[in-house]
Amino acid sequence: MSEKKSSQISGFYKLSIEERLEKLKDFAGLNEQEIAVLKKESSLELKSADKMIENVIGTMPVPLGIATNFLINGENYLIPMATEEPSVIAAASNAARIARLKGGFTAGSDESIMIGQIQVTDLKNPDDAKNAVIANKQKILALANEQDPVLNKFGGGAKDIEVRILDKFIVVHLLVDCRDAMGANAVNTMAEAAAPLIEEITGGEVILKIISNLAVKRLARSSAVFDKEALGGEEVVDRIILAYKFAAKDPYRCATNNKGIMNGISSVVLATGNDTRAIEAGAHGYAALNGYSPLAKYRKNSDGDLVGEIELPMAVGLIGGATAVHPTAKINVKILGVKTARELEEVIASVGLAQNLAALRALSAEGIQRGHMKLHAKNIAKMAGADDRILDKVVEIMVRERKVRLDRAREIVEELKK
Ligand code: MEV
Repeated sequence: MSEKKSSQISGFYKLSIEERLEKLKDFAGLNEQEIAVLKKESSLELKSADKMIENVIGTMPVPLGIATNFLINGENYLIPMATEEPSVIAAASNAARIARLKGGFTAGSDESIMIGQIQVTDLKNPDDAKNAVIANKQKILALANEQDPVLNKFGGGAKDIEVRILDKFIVVHLLVDCRDAMGANAVNTMAEAAAPLIEEITGGEVILKIISNLAVKRLARSSAVFDKEALGGEEVVDRIILAYKFAAKDPYRCATNNKGIMNGISSVVLATGNDTRAIEAGAHGYAALNGYSPLAKYRKNSDGDLVGEIELPMAVGLIGGATAVHPTAKINVKILGVKTARELEEVIASVGLAQNLAALRALSAEGIQRGHMKLHAKNIAKMAGADDRILDKVVEIMVRERKVRLDRAREIVEELKK
C-alpha cells in the first residue's frame, strides 16, 4: 500500500520558494514542466510576491484589458480591468460608448468614512453602557487618533462615535475618515487601541474589534442616460426595465444581476490592487439592507431614453496595501489618472453601471451566448490551425452555422487552405 502523504508540513513558511516547490512536487506529483510554469516570473516578481503573502510558490496572472469610451464627470478615462471572463470588457466599453452620447456618467461619492466595530459584552445595563460611551466620546476619539498621526496630518482620523444596542450587548462604531486609504489597517488598530478604555468606561468585556465592510458612510454613486436609439429603440428600453424589475422582485435573478455588476467592479478593484472581497462583501451587504435588491435602478425619462443609477459602498484606496507595491497595480492607477481614492470610487461605480446596462441589454435582446460564441470560436479556430489570413472566415462560418466545435473548425480550415 502506498504511504499516505501528509499536508502537515512544519516550517513550510521558513523554506525558500525553491524548497517549497520541491515539497509540492513530491506531494502533488508535479513534473518539471509544471514546476517551470509556477516558477515563471511575471510582472510581479516572485521575491516581491513572497513579501506580500505567506508560503508563496508562484504568481497567478489573469488577463488585463482596457475598457474604452468612459466619460465620467466630463473626464475621459481608459479603464484597466483584470478578469478571466470573456466579453466583460467589450460589454463595459460598449455601454460606455452609448452613455457618452448623452454626456457620459455623472458620479459622486461620500467622504472616506469607515466603521470600526467594538463589541462590548457582559454588561449589567446596555442603556447605561451606551450613555457612558457617548459621555466619553472625546476621550475615546483622542485615544484612537493617537494611533495614526499621519492620517490626522492629512485631515483624516477618528471623527465620531455611534452606539447600537444589540440584544444584551452594545456595539460601538468608531467612524474613521480614511482619506486616500482603504483604511482596514488604520481602523483595526484604532478599534483595538480603544477597547481597554471602552471596557473601563462600560465595565463590560470587549470581544470583537474589527472594521465593517458594510461601508454605508462611504458610498459611491453614478448615473447615466442611455439613448434609446443607440440601445436599439424604445422597445429595448422597455425590455431592460422589465429585466431590472425581475431582479427587483426575485432574489434568484437579483444575485445574478448583481454578479454582473461585480464583473465590472471587481475587475477594476483587482487591477488597482484593492481588496475584491471587501468590495464584494460591502456590495452584497448593502444590496441586502432592505431585502436583497439590485444595486442599479432603471427608469425611462420623458424622451423615452433609459436612465440608470447605481449606488454602493466603495472602500478602495490609492495608498497602502497591494496598490502601493504591486508594479502592475501602480501602472493601472497611472493609466486611470485618478488623483484621489474618491475619484477611483466614482470611476468604479460607473463601470458597475455600464456592466449592468450591457448585461441587461444583451439578456433582454439576443441573450449573451452570441457574444461569447465569437470569442470561443476564435480560440477553437486557432486550435484547429487557422492562421491570420483565414481566422475571421473560420469564425464567421462556425458562428453562422452555430457549430463552434473543433472537428468542424478543422474541416473548415482544411477547405479554406485548399
Ligand atoms: C455573467 O458573468 C453575468 C451575467 O449573468 C449578468 C446578468 O445576468 O445580469 C450576464
